[in-house]
Amino acid sequence: MHAGLNLTLNVGRPAACTIVLARGALQNLAEILAGTTVRRAIWVADQTVQAAVGNLVDAALRRAFGSVDVITIEPGEQGKTLAGFAFLLGELERLNADRLTTIVAVGGGSTTDSVGFAASAYLRGIPYICVPTTLTGQVDAAVGGKVAVNTTAAKNAVGAFYHPSHVIIDPALLPAHLEIPFRDGLAEIVKVATISDGPLFEKLEDLAADQVPTEQVLDELVRRAVMAKLALLTKDPFETELDRLLNFGHETAHALEKALGHAIRHGPAVAIGIAAATRISVKRALLGEPEGCRVLAVLERLSLPVSIDLRKSAEQRFVDALRQVMLVRAGHLRVVLPTGIGHGVIAPAVTIEDLTTSIRGS
Ligand SMILES: NC(=O)c1ccc[n+]([C@@H]2O[C@H](COP(=O)([O-])OP(=O)(O)OC[C@H]3O[C@@H](n4cnc5c(N)ncnc54)[C@H](O)[C@@H]3O)[C@@H](O)[C@H]2O)c1
Ligand SMILES: [Zn+2]
Repeated sequence: MHAGLNLTLNVGRPAACTIVLARGALQNLAEILAGTTVRRAIWVADQTVQAAVGNLVDAALRRAFGSVDVITIEPGEQGKTLAGFAFLLGELERLNADRLTTIVAVGGGSTTDSVGFAASAYLRGIPYICVPTTLTGQVDAAVGGKVAVNTTAAKNAVGAFYHPSHVIIDPALLPAHLEIPFRDGLAEIVKVATISDGPLFEKLEDLAADQVPTEQVLDELVRRAVMAKLALLTKDPFETELDRLLNFGHETAHALEKALGHAIRHGPAVAIGIAAATRISVKRALLGEPEGCRVLAVLERLSLPVSIDLRKSAEQRFVDALRQVMLVRAGHLRVVLPTGIGHGVIAPAVTIEDLTTSIRGS
């Protein structure tokens, strides 16, 4: 070998991500960011979010930064597109954002995903802060550094791993009423509880059906769910294992979303995936029947679906989507199965037939 170079660079970037979780945390933003070199903030939100929490956000940012601007984006998945990404980059240029600027993503998972991706690309990466305002955002999307936008072909098709400098999880920012985005987030909490946090699962069982949880209960659910996700993530921060435990319910969910052209929301799709994996696990005697019933019962109490009847054409698309996943994973359909309340394994030999049967509820 010729003399040359053989060195290892530490390429971790950004170097750290601080997660602050507390009711009222946003009010303390200036204290949380004390010592930062960033002088300017540009926050990004859709109109609904601006109407709901804009005053609070703007006031908190003005206490922390000398200069504050706002960019308005399209809501939900409408903004999480390549066009939305290009729009954000254009707005950042127009506002002369530089390396001493931080972008503040305020909203649900689609906003934190697309803004994080724009932050990763603009000037080859400038800092950003996540302020999630939906349950999915707080317990899932804003934690873990996965950022992306959708293409016409697939969800999250283009993206990166790019952590925010700070994640401010303030349950006071969640909508007061428990409408659709809230239900979606509950499915993610059931997911992480079932495979890794028995006590959290019991808290979900204690939730009265169709009742708004008290602030105290909600805060505890969010806190435990974030801790459980972080505990699993630290084992596999870059998802080198495509089939990690956090994927529970998602093998089925992604295929269902594809088969139904996203006419089904992510939360219900995940719930059906959790139920299907639970049935398979009981059939294989990996999970006791009573525990299996508890998983299905908790989903139903939270008004999440546990089965779906697909029409022939949709079922074919579901099978095709699963086959595609198998291709990506070198011929394997590895599915996360629960083995107890708070425990799960990655099962190597689940078949497409197993999944098509179990989503029907049989
Ligand atoms: N990066 C990850 O690891 C990860 C994890 C899970 C989900 N996601 C992504 O997150 C997205 C779903 O996120 P979501 O469920 O938060 O929904 P969303 O971001 O698609 O939409 C949220 C909707 O709720 C409204 N909203 C948000 N906060 C509100 C508030 N406080 N009051 C009133 N209305 C409010 C918004 O205007 C928007 O219309 C998907 O794109 C999914 O791929 C990413
Ligand atoms: Zn999910």
